[in-house]
Amino acid sequence: MHQYIRPRRLRKDGAIRDLVAESSVTTDDLIYPVFLLPGSNSQEPISSMPGQNRVSLDLLLKSLKTWTEKGLKGICLFPVVPEKHKDSHGTYSYNPDNFYLKAMAEIKSKFPNLLIMTDVALDPYSTDGHDGIVDSKTGEILNDPTLEVLSKMSVAQAKAGADIIGPSDMMDGRVLSIRESLEEEGFHNTLIMSYTAKYASAFYGPFREALDSAPKSGDKKTYQMDIRNSSEALREAELDVSEGADILMVKPGMPYLDILKLLHLELETPLSVYQVSGEYAMLKAAAEKGWLVEKDVAVESIVAFKRAGASIILSYFTPSLLDWLSE
Ligand code: PBG
Repeated sequence: MHQYIRPRRLRKDGAIRDLVAESSVTTDDLIYPVFLLPGSNSQEPISSMPGQNRVSLDLLLKSLKTWTEKGLKGICLFPVVPEKHKDSHGTYSYNPDNFYLKAMAEIKSKFPNLLIMTDVALDPYSTDGHDGIVDSKTGEILNDPTLEVLSKMSVAQAKAGADIIGPSDMMDGRVLSIRESLEEEGFHNTLIMSYTAKYASAFYGPFREALDSAPKSGDKKTYQMDIRNSSEALREAELDVSEGADILMVKPGMPYLDILKLLHLELETPLSVYQVSGEYAMLKAAAEKGWLVEKDVAVESIVAFKRAGASIILSYFTPSLLDWLSE
């Protein structure tokens, strides 16, 4: 018997594998999420995210020089807000004295070509640790009153120089509300990368430790998506596109590759994916134990995101990937 069809021919050596490869990842695809501390000269390691730190602006600026020289395209900046600035309505988020807004303006002036993405939600600024305003009597997360805060926060961030506004709160109508406010204030070119399919996931634990932003009571299941659903992601996506989102995000990443692929097949809007803190922690912990090879699993996970349809990847592995992907 002659076997004419042999798929292995296309895997024969590195050259042919490279020629037929369907996806590739470069440093152009990455956004690095960073945790910003107020003040100066401070750096605090995040215990559940080995290798990641909360840092003050001066130290971040030094690192940014190194990373941008290696090709870093963007950061997503998260503020570590001191307890004294938190309140039930997250008003510090749009206070012009906010250390985070000032830091953003300074980063933008020093690194004009670096894209700065923000996260729009109340949780880092809220005494309740929820993404929206909590009704003090019923505990309900109030949708429409929250939109006002989200819009003010977004405009303040755009004024400070943010290139990409990232609503992560999952309130209904937030993209429209933010888009209208940005247009009214003249920010026609500010992008919105909406956390479209953001699931009520247990993989965010280390991040909430990093920002000390865990909900004080209840969980986020009345606004973040149900982990059992996928058609809901399409519905959210269609809404976000119609409300004026430029890029749609799926989050977490690895457990939700099916959702990423679904949106990729159904929509034309560029997609991003967030490899969240718990995914990083898992891979990192296994690597520390010598059970997995860190570089190989990190690169493999990033390639999987590209294969499933992401144009943009937010990953805590970014500083290492800048080296690994250039080798
Ligand atoms: C805030 C926000 C969260 C993350 C990004 N933005 C936490 C949450 O929704 O509770 C998680 C990111 C990560 O785990 O790395 N709304």
